[in-house]
Amino acid sequence: MQSVMDFGRSRSEQRKISMVTAYDASSARIVAASSIDAILVGDSVAMVVHGHTTTLTATVDMLAVHTRAVARGAGSKFLISDLPFLSYRKGVGVAMDAVESLMASGAHAVKLEGVDGHENVIRHIVESGVPVMGHIGLTPQSVHQLGGFRVQGKTETHAGHLVEQARRLEDLGCFAMVIECVPASLGARITQSVRIPTIGIGAGPATDGQVLVLSDLLGIELKAPRFVRRYMDGASLVTDALNRFDKDVKDARFPACAESYA
Ligand code: KIV
Repeated sequence: MQSVMDFGRSRSEQRKISMVTAYDASSARIVAASSIDAILVGDSVAMVVHGHTTTLTATVDMLAVHTRAVARGAGSKFLISDLPFLSYRKGVGVAMDAVESLMASGAHAVKLEGVDGHENVIRHIVESGVPVMGHIGLTPQSVHQLGGFRVQGKTETHAGHLVEQARRLEDLGCFAMVIECVPASLGARITQSVRIPTIGIGAGPATDGQVLVLSDLLGIELKAPRFVRRYMDGASLVTDALNRFDKDVKDARFPACAESYA
């Protein structure tokens, strides 16, 4: 993907969109060499990289540092950065400072959670020429209000509200939206209710694309939600490599001549 146009084109041509997170230059380089469509510098960086239990500790500075690192490795991949907790809830001016920081760090678009009460901010960002990706369903920045990381939209009232939020995001000019952790039937219903692409994470197979946290799909995170598919057992592979290095060091088999300077 080179631009927001490609997202819309993928949906109209019924080509699924793939997206993964990245937080550093070396993993961005690996993603850049793959066929994955887009990279998200998610505020999940606070949990995955910094070891926090929620995303609430992510800051604009944290996201900017990781966006700059990812941008150096991402080549021409389309790069979206998360606006962190409360950065778009303190008025348009503060939100625009955050947007400026992420875009100056190399993002091509920003993502933000929810829509109720910050429609004016979303509209202003879009009207400023910055593509906005929405995010509804399980919005981790509201984890304490939601009572935990749990499936959303299980009642008809709540499901209807999510459909309505999705339509509002489209009306506000978002180019795409993430739908997180909702029943598969609701993922399909939201996707049918809007014309912009939906990218699911735990939202079933009917969305226009799927996103996963890179370390989850690589099997590096030992605990992962039900919706994750592990494509390799990264934790075991890395531990095995570390143990082999440790043994070579202790048996004085590393470094060999080829790994030493004459
Ligand atoms: O921060 C993140 O990684 C995300 C994805 C879960 C979509 O927002």
